[in-house]
Amino acid sequence: MNPSLSRLDKEQKRLIMIGGKGGVGKTTCASAIALHFSLQGKRTLIISSDPTPSLSDIFEMEIGDQETAIKDAPNLYGIEISSEVVLKKWKERFGPEIFEIVSSFASLDYDFVDYIGGAPGIEEEYMLNYILELVEGGQYDLVVWDTAPAGHTLRLLHLPQIFLKHLEAATKFYMNLYSYFEKLKDTVKLRKGKRSLLEIISGWEDLAEKVVRFIRDPQKSEFIIVTIPEALGVKQTERIVQDFDDYQLKVNHLIVNYVVREADCEFHKQRREMQQNYIKILQDQYSGRIQLTEIPLSPREIKGVERIKKISDILFG
Ligand SMILES: Nc1ncnc2c1ncn2[C@@H]1O[C@H](COP(=O)(O)OP(=O)(O)OP(=O)(O)O)[C@@H](O)[C@H]1O
Ligand SMILES: [Mg+2]
Repeated sequence: MNPSLSRLDKEQKRLIMIGGKGGVGKTTCASAIALHFSLQGKRTLIISSDPTPSLSDIFEMEIGDQETAIKDAPNLYGIEISSEVVLKKWKERFGPEIFEIVSSFASLDYDFVDYIGGAPGIEEEYMLNYILELVEGGQYDLVVWDTAPAGHTLRLLHLPQIFLKHLEAATKFYMNLYSYFEKLKDTVKLRKGKRSLLEIISGWEDLAEKVVRFIRDPQKSEFIIVTIPEALGVKQTERIVQDFDDYQLKVNHLIVNYVVREADCEFHKQRREMQQNYIKILQDQYSGRIQLTEIPLSPREIKGVERIKKISDILFG
């Protein structure tokens, strides 16, 4: 029997993240999982941060970067968020504070914020904040996040930690500056009524910590990895699970997609044999720790609510 994801029915997860390497069926699984919960009456948002819009394809309608009701699926909403939009949101959220900090000791244009916003990793860093805002905004019971392919997701998970490290260094730096200004108080007048630099920075720190706490909270967040029964899939899964372990994030479910069930020709018989070999390896590797749920290879691509529903039924048994 194919173990199912039905455990999740009894839990009240707020965020489900779907990860895995490119092309393994992440968007398909994320859509099927989101559809499943929306049909249970949960207001569900599926969010794709893939640079190439994919939800529009699978749901056969234009979705884009605004929360959009999915046709033929009550309670289900979708959004495809591009890095430009995330960067814009980052600027709206942090721009004024960064400017406040910098302009208190240097005379600079607001353009400076654009300059900082151009630093690599900013948008990924903000993505998690943005998702948390959506989760906590109260508009949705559940957010399902179809992440961009491969290592990208893991980089995202590392970021709050890296961010905190940066902040630590930055805080020390500003402390020094601050005491310097304190000493010069009489000669250099800091504008009145402003929050201290440390107050602003500790606000950022709180935010980064909140994100880390949330994604580590097994009551609220769930990570599901999608893979394929091939050597590459086994290797990549190993790496992802290891990385998650390092960050104290637990993976409970692994979806093995494109499994050949019936083989009525030599070609498919060989493929099935090859796949079964890797499924066995995955089972041995994770037995008792991570549950494996298989999705059979379908003769057709998975498009439209009706076919996605079939995948939901397979996943939730
Ligand atoms: N079990 C399946 N049987 C047949 N086709 C499938 C199955 N699962 C997914 N597909 C098809 O495979 C293609 C890739 O799936 P999907 O877009 O979900 O992968 P992805 O991991 O999101 O890819 P990317 O990394 O590019 O975002 C799609 O055309 C989808 O319809
Ligand atoms: Mg995808």
